[in-house]
Amino acid sequence: MLESILKESFFLRETLNLHSETEALRIFYGPGETRDPELSQIAIDLFLDHAWITQWKEVKPGTLAKVSEVLKGHFGEKLRAIVLMDRSKVASEADVIPLDGPVRTGRFSVKEFGVPYLAQMENTKHPGLFLDHAPLRKWLLHTQKNKRVLNLFSYTGSLSVAAAMGGAKQVTTLDLSKATIDWAKENWANAKLPNEMGDFIYGDVFEWLPKMRKRNAEFDTILCDPPSFSRSKNGTFSTNKDGAKLHAEILPLLATGGILVTSINSENVFERNFLKDIETASEITGTKLKLIGRVDLPESFPTRLDLGERYLKGFYLQKI
Ligand SMILES: C[S@@+](CC[C@H](N)C(=O)[O-])C[C@H]1O[C@@H](n2cnc3c(N)ncnc32)[C@H](O)[C@@H]1O
Repeated sequence: MLESILKESFFLRETLNLHSETEALRIFYGPGETRDPELSQIAIDLFLDHAWITQWKEVKPGTLAKVSEVLKGHFGEKLRAIVLMDRSKVASEADVIPLDGPVRTGRFSVKEFGVPYLAQMENTKHPGLFLDHAPLRKWLLHTQKNKRVLNLFSYTGSLSVAAAMGGAKQVTTLDLSKATIDWAKENWANAKLPNEMGDFIYGDVFEWLPKMRKRNAEFDTILCDPPSFSRSKNGTFSTNKDGAKLHAEILPLLATGGILVTSINSENVFERNFLKDIETASEITGTKLKLIGRVDLPESFPTRLDLGERYLKGFYLQKI
């Protein structure tokens, strides 16, 4: 049963020819692919020759060993190692643990649509590349010629790299975490992008957006992908509570004709509320926005069977 569920999912990705575009791919998403009580608690992501298993609730002893055996049987020599991220633990205690094979030390390049991004499989809480934003990275690769781009809540800067590889003339990358901004710089260098094209800011969005406004900064593309909740020295931020304020800080920086891509990856933030906050911000700032698209999940992320709406919501909005 377990084997046939997993193999069907692996086969589906192969039929859709998804491996040809990327070395980083979700090959199984339990919550969207099965009602099996055990398997619905896990996801499996492929990063080049590593499988990264996430478990959201602890599964029975033996299940992960069986999953590993199926993975090894299916992928054979292509799979070097298997690791586990246990999200059933509180975030501060969760750390990736090796399950099988010699895990690569340090960061290594994984190509998506021909662009290299640095992934990490040991001593980390996350591999460094959010796979659900693959369609956004693809869009950036095809649309950013000569654009000035601001990437807020950048994490490891994968969206910045995609924008620059797509021809952006200047990319500003901003995140509150020093470690992830350093990783973003490494990603930039690893993609052989010129230093002078990239600005990297280690700081709080709520401190930097007003500073940029004072300097009359303007961007053709602004990427905004906040966490549902965060804490900084300036206090706490929650997308549900502060979404309108955040967007009201952002909109004055958007050039006319420019595009804001704003998304939230959380089942606790409802699409309606998120959109309402953007509307409120556009009223406060007197900015006219046209909805030109939705931020999509890749084909390898089936919709969750138990959820009324997609957990990733987001919009492409043009300032008119
Ligand atoms: C959901 S992740 C962004 C993922 C990223 N857009 C990507 O596709 O790789 C959220 C990021 O926001 C950062 N962050 C949280 N609060 C912040 C704040 N007040 N100012 C700037 N960055 C913040 C976190 O450090 C984290 O890296």
